[in-house]
Amino acid sequence: MKKLLLLLGILVQAISYAGAVPASDVRSLVVYYTYSGVTESLAQAIADDCGGTLLQVIDHGNYPRPESSTTYNYANNERSQIDAGTWPVINTTVESFDQWDAIIICTPLWNGKMANPMLTFLHNHASKLAGKQVALAVTSWSSGITNVVNDAHNQLPNSTFVGTPLHINYNNRSNISSMAQNWVNTLEFEAPAAPAGDLRVIVGNKTFTATLADNATADAFRSMLPMTLNMNELNGNEKYCYLSTNLPSAASNPGTIHAGDIMLYGDNCVVLFYETFNTSYRYTRIGAVDDPSELADALGSGNVSVRFELATTILEGDVNGDGSVNISDITAVIDYILGKEGIDFDTADVDNDGSVNISDVSLIIDYIISK
Ligand SMILES: Cc1cc2nc3c(=O)[nH]c(=O)nc-3n(C[C@H](O)[C@H](O)[C@H](O)COP(=O)(O)O)c2cc1C
Repeated sequence: MKKLLLLLGILVQAISYAGAVPASDVRSLVVYYTYSGVTESLAQAIADDCGGTLLQVIDHGNYPRPESSTTYNYANNERSQIDAGTWPVINTTVESFDQWDAIIICTPLWNGKMANPMLTFLHNHASKLAGKQVALAVTSWSSGITNVVNDAHNQLPNSTFVGTPLHINYNNRSNISSMAQNWVNTLEFEAPAAPAGDLRVIVGNKTFTATLADNATADAFRSMLPMTLNMNELNGNEKYCYLSTNLPSAASNPGTIHAGDIMLYGDNCVVLFYETFNTSYRYTRIGAVDDPSELADALGSGNVSVRFELATTILEGDVNGDGSVNISDITAVIDYILGKEGIDFDTADVDNDGSVNISDVSLIIDYIISK
């Protein structure tokens, strides 16, 4: 009964979390612009708190210094030009945000609105930031930040804004680090998507990630892993191996075979293709190597030994070792906590923090929810 209540509590907790994780659990890019250093201090504090990477937006270098009405007028005129469609030069470009789960934007307020260089950065990168989670932190002397928030939303209509924007003004500048810390603690991001690959294909010292198909053949293949196959060369485009057992099959002609395709020929022949070509044969898809660009080189021209194993992301959390991560693994962790024998400590310590506790259960729940 005690165990049942604990399990129910955990499930309620899991549902209320709905996949949200703190900023420290996602890969954050803290991008900031600064004219006089205040926003830079804020960005540094935020990056420290969330373990994020800092990126400074560099302007064109023409804003009049020291800060005076001349600066304000220059910036104001430039903003009028922006509103008329002419954007200033900035000297910062990001090729891709793929490596980041969250982008934290830190900007000063200029003349009641977002500082021109940051506005321009968002404008230039809007399509790359589409679908990204973003959070906003603004510094001003005294003005309110409503227009800055509107600027951000207007430039990034397809991004997901997370949390309440942070505002630092002259009143609380001396508390930047504690305000940054408190704010970062309020941010809840969606858990990052699981890596594409759920399979590893290992050839010699080269490891490829691969993604299994969502079908009975792939399920049966998965249940056989890990396994090492001695694969035969054929036709300069594939390696094949006959298994000793049959897998479920539903063959069809794929038209084009793509390098990296992992197919079942007949009921028991696993084929790993390393070239792209048209075929008239029928196969059942098992999966595909995510990035096959170096596959042909790794496989070579002859027969080759290839190991197929589940990626750690799947095995991590498979506390009872049944090849999948599900509610029975939560029970297994709880069994371990309650002192039941037969559960291995290392496997139950899913987050590898040296103890088995509720955080291991949470990690399994996060994984199950994100599936
Ligand atoms: C061109 C310019 C315009 C500004 N306009 C305003 C304003 O309208 N209202 C305000 O409260 N502060 C204004 N400020 C002050 C900045 O928002 C504030 O000092 C900010 O914290 C500076 O950040 P930074 O040191 O990172 O550049 C302006 C500053 C500059 C340089």
